[in-house]
Amino acid sequence: MIKISFILNGDRVETWVKEHEMLLDVLRSNFNLQGTREGCGMGECGACTVLVNGAGINSCLFPALEIDGKIVETIESLADKGKFHPLQQAFLDHGASQCGFCTPGMIMSAKAFIDDYPTAPETVTEAEIKQALAGNLCRCTGYFQIIAAVKAAMKEQV
Ligand code: FES
Ligand code: FES
Repeated sequence: MIKISFILNGDRVETWVKEHEMLLDVLRSNFNLQGTREGCGMGECGACTVLVNGAGINSCLFPALEIDGKIVETIESLADKGKFHPLQQAFLDHGASQCGFCTPGMIMSAKAFIDDYPTAPETVTEAEIKQALAGNLCRCTGYFQIIAAVKAAMKEQV
């Protein structure tokens, strides 16, 4: 076991990890952060997406050892004192979450996209949103509601 230290949802934390353990398992087992889901476990579905130093990654394939010294954000970091993040609220308002299994990963990918968006958020196109969410699969919504939700959340930031 190896000790690592990193910033998790705003707090500095330490934990012990096995050499080949993946970040997804460490988040769920060591920190009880159950919002990050395991879908495929093979880097295909995006359900396990979290942010590392602001970039969306598939935590099912990301070695936990590489987190040492970095900043990790999970879906649990978004709501502020019981108030939903604009993305969460927009997903709710637009029916963008049905079974909800893909939703945490979808929202974290959308957050990385929005945080990094280079120009005025109201200028976003559907094509840009589709590209940003290309690594996140949803079996339920048909994606229209998801794209509408991301667009609405971006307009709210104007
Ligand atoms: S569970 Fe990680 S990409 Fe599917
Ligand atoms: S809401 Fe069910 S997989 Fe996306």
